[in-house]
Amino acid sequence: MRAVDIIGKKRNKEANTEAEIRFLVNGFVNGEVADYQMSAYLMAVCLNGMTEEETEDLTRIMIESGDVIKLDKIPFKKADKHSTGGVADTTTLILAPIVAACGGYVAKLSGKGLGATGGTIDKLESVKNLDTQCDGEKFERLVSELHLCVASQTASLVPADKLMYALRDVTATVDSIPLIASSIMSKKIAAGADVIVLDVKFGNGAFMKTVDEAEALAAAMVKIGKRMGRKTVAILTDMNEPLGTAVGNGLELKEAIDALSCRIDKNSKLMQVSLFIAEQMLILSDVAKTEEEAQNLIDEALKSGTALNKLKSLCEALGGDTACFENTDLLTKTEKQIPVYLNKTGYVESVDALKIGNAACLLGAGRQKKTDSIDYSVGIVLLKQKGDYVKLGEAVATLYVNDEKHIKEAEKLVKEAFALNCTKQEHKSSIYKVINFEKI
Ligand code: URA
Ligand code: CA
Repeated sequence: MRAVDIIGKKRNKEANTEAEIRFLVNGFVNGEVADYQMSAYLMAVCLNGMTEEETEDLTRIMIESGDVIKLDKIPFKKADKHSTGGVADTTTLILAPIVAACGGYVAKLSGKGLGATGGTIDKLESVKNLDTQCDGEKFERLVSELHLCVASQTASLVPADKLMYALRDVTATVDSIPLIASSIMSKKIAAGADVIVLDVKFGNGAFMKTVDEAEALAAAMVKIGKRMGRKTVAILTDMNEPLGTAVGNGLELKEAIDALSCRIDKNSKLMQVSLFIAEQMLILSDVAKTEEEAQNLIDEALKSGTALNKLKSLCEALGGDTACFENTDLLTKTEKQIPVYLNKTGYVESVDALKIGNAACLLGAGRQKKTDSIDYSVGIVLLKQKGDYVKLGEAVATLYVNDEKHIKEAEKLVKEAFALNCTKQEHKSSIYKVINFEKI
């Protein structure tokens, strides 16, 4: 077999066999297939696509390129969720403890944030002394005993994805549905998930700008999950607007603590999306039979405080100082808190998620490059959301600032993010569509 022939087939819009894909991927990982050959193949896939079977084969071959976490000793379904990345999207820290408190098992590996998009690992690490690195043994122990572990991705899991992603990043080949779908699903399956709920975002703050692109990605991932025996559901959610009101790591953890303490309206977008994903995870894990039963379990877990306690226990188990659960100000203490005014009045027509995410990033809440360091306590709290009325002299947001360097720029972006109108916008559901493995 020769790499050149395999690449040529994909260039000619033919499907590659499993053996051919294996030859390329394994050869690339062990250095026998050159970077330029893998790059050419990735570009051919980007232009000509892959069949469902090729996509499944690629996913399985990527999983087999490294370690897999086996959670077989836990004789129940292990559930995971994945979001394609958003702004003010702290759903994992809300729904994972809820699912655990209701009797589900959540086993989740997460990543760090990049650009305007936040990462769950950074939000957890805003707790003093907390370390999200877990070896396989600790991961399994926490899933078994606490029903919940959220930890950092390890280098040994799906090494083929890391190597291929690094090439994609610099060869304009990230933007391919089969490549994104196999990249995401390989990591979920390698981490031991039986149940996978995917939150695929669309809009200007998301990876996929249009509903159609998001739907195609969601369908590709659900099909991979189905073909590989995982109960997979995807929801499409709107990321034209930030989901919650807090953007920044400590601020978002505080928002999650507030949510689990029943201090956030259940009809807010953040709670709607979080609770819907939790319901789906409970149903697919066979903890609840119906949405109503799942909702009752969730209500009880919130009211009794057991869901909040799950998050606190996770932070404790990861070595964190949990004083911030009693005093959330510890998470958001900054030198300055600066209100942002618009100098106009009207109903908020839209809040540009990308601009808000970029403004928070400028203040030090996020990274431009993977190696940048971040400030856990800085960020933005939105005081007004779509549909709210802004009176003259009312602030629309608060900037939490330590370093004064980029305040003006950040303030300008936040102001630009708000569009006002004289009529009130209809509130649309944040969940646009659900794609279930049983119906695809
Ligand atoms: N996220 C991933 O994990 N992989 C991709 O290819 C794109 C986004
Ligand atoms: Ca096959």
